[in-house]
Parts: sequence; structure tokens; C-alpha cells
Amino acid sequence: MAEEYKNQDGSLLLKNLQLVEKKASGRYGEVWRGKLGEVIVAVKITPMSEVASWKNEVHIYHKYLMPNPHPNILRFIIAGNRGPAEQRMFLVTEYHPLGSLVDLLKGRAITLDEAERLSCTMLAGISFLHDTDGKPAVAHRDFKSTNVLIRNDMSVCIADYGLATAFEPDERIGDRHGQVGTRRYMAPELLEGAISLNVISFLRVDIYACGLVLWEILSRTQLNPDIPVSIYKLPFEEELGLAPTNEGIHAAIVHKRIRPALKDSWKTDPRGSQMCSTIEECWDADPEARPSASCLSNRMRSLSPDVTY
Ligand code: ADE
Repeated sequence: MAEEYKNQDGSLLLKNLQLVEKKASGRYGEVWRGKLGEVIVAVKITPMSEVASWKNEVHIYHKYLMPNPHPNILRFIIAGNRGPAEQRMFLVTEYHPLGSLVDLLKGRAITLDEAERLSCTMLAGISFLHDTDGKPAVAHRDFKSTNVLIRNDMSVCIADYGLATAFEPDERIGDRHGQVGTRRYMAPELLEGAISLNVISFLRVDIYACGLVLWEILSRTQLNPDIPVSIYKLPFEEELGLAPTNEGIHAAIVHKRIRPALKDSWKTDPRGSQMCSTIEECWDADPEARPSASCLSNRMRSLSPDVTY
């Protein structure tokens, strides 16, 4: 898939890559702040055990997200390795010093204007991925708040295409794995293994996750100066804790149809109330009842006319 990129000038440029500070690590590898010549960049380092994810991400960027696809999609710079001896792959992108949405929301409460800007730009990014304007629909398949990066102007860009999948016309999609992604953000039909492997089903799974991320944003929004904002919690952290079992998640989301709480105090503000209704539509147990990304994006735009993009 991405073989053709492997030995292109990427490896030459990457010889000048300096790793400066480790920002995050996980099963997928590590993210560093680095320098490519004089340019500050983000570097995702993937071990060979996860090379399929690196190849997939490079493929998605080269084929569908280049050169400058959309302001709310993380900008790719270069990918490759630093020579045949090095058992890890690099993906270099634009660096965003404020980090992810989780970093922002953990750090402070936000204003309603900021919440609207974050939500509108996030939905514009998802809508671009899902739309079929000169490209096939791309499902992200691991949408969550750590994959939403914050620009200095409080707009966002969507990162991490290691699991993303594009739906080319006439392509067989039967061999795609259904159940991928982060369990906490998985839609009920995915947890149940009851998803049909077609384009629209995958896009609806992204929309469910989007509902959870919108809830995270709203949960840290100062809607009323007299009511303190609660500390940041992950979706379902209140209900299931920080390390729920697979069975616990399945029982809560599929059988008991539990969703994160939408507090009454959020609904006293008309804009907060609108956002609560939108969130509930996104995480509906019935995938067909969820709005499309373009519908969500257009609705948010009309409800928040002051947001600039
Ligand atoms: N974390 C993951 N990717 C990042 C990026 N591009 N900039 C800043 N932090 C990140």
C-alpha cells in the first residue's frame, strides 16, 4: 500500500530530524516534539510491530488528505524511516503546542464561545472526511478527544488515521475488520458485533464517538457564572471508572443503554440546551437515527453564526 513512499526523499529529509521532547506514548508508539531543520514538528514513531497502522496512515494522507485538504485536518509533512537498520517508522506532521482536546479540557474550563468554536471546527473536519466531494468517504474509526488537536486560535484539527478507511466506489469491503478503535468510544452496534460492513455504518460509528467528544466539550463549558464547572472526566468515567472491563462496557452501553449525564443546569442556557439535543441524537442506540456529519456541521454553523473558520 504505502511501499512506494518508503524510499522516497522522506528518508533523506528524516536524517535531519531531531527528537526534542517526548509528549506521549502508548501501544501505537510515541509522539515527540521535534525539529526538521528549523521547523518545529510533531513526530509519531511507530514500532515495526504496528507498521500496518503507519502504512495505513501514510496511504490515507497521500491518497486523500494531501497536499492541503482542509483546515481542520492535521497537516502531513513527511513519512519514512531513517535507514534500513532502524526498526521504527516516522510520521512527521505540523506541531500544535496546546496538545489535544483532553489536555485543554483537563487544564481549564472553557467559555461557551470557545466550546462552539471547538465543536464547529471539529464537525467541519469530520464532515470533510465523510463527504464525497472529489474523493471517497473516509471513516476515521478511532475518533476520540486525544485525536482532536487544538490550534492556537481554538480551532481544531483531526489527527491519527492509523485505522481510517476510505470507501472507493465498487470496492469490496467484506474483509475489513468491524471491531476496531477504542472501546470506551465504540458504538453499541460495534460492541455487539452487529455492524454491517458498509460505508454508511462506519460513518455512523464515527458520529456516535463524535457525540461523546461533544459531551466532553460541553462538560467543561462555563455556561452559568454561578454554577461551577466539574473537573474533566472521560466519557463513562463517572459511570464505569477509568479502567472498565469489556463486559462492563458492553452491559452498560448495549444492554442498559447508559450514556454520559447531560446535566439540567446545561439546559438552562438555550445554546447549551441545543448542544444537549445534538449530542443525544449523535449517540442514539439506533445508528440510522444519528445525523450525518454534514447535517451536524451545517446545523452547528447556523446555531453559532459568530464562529470563524
Ligand atoms: N499529539 C499528537 N499529535 C500532535 C501534534 N501534531 N501536535 C501536538 N501534539 C500532538
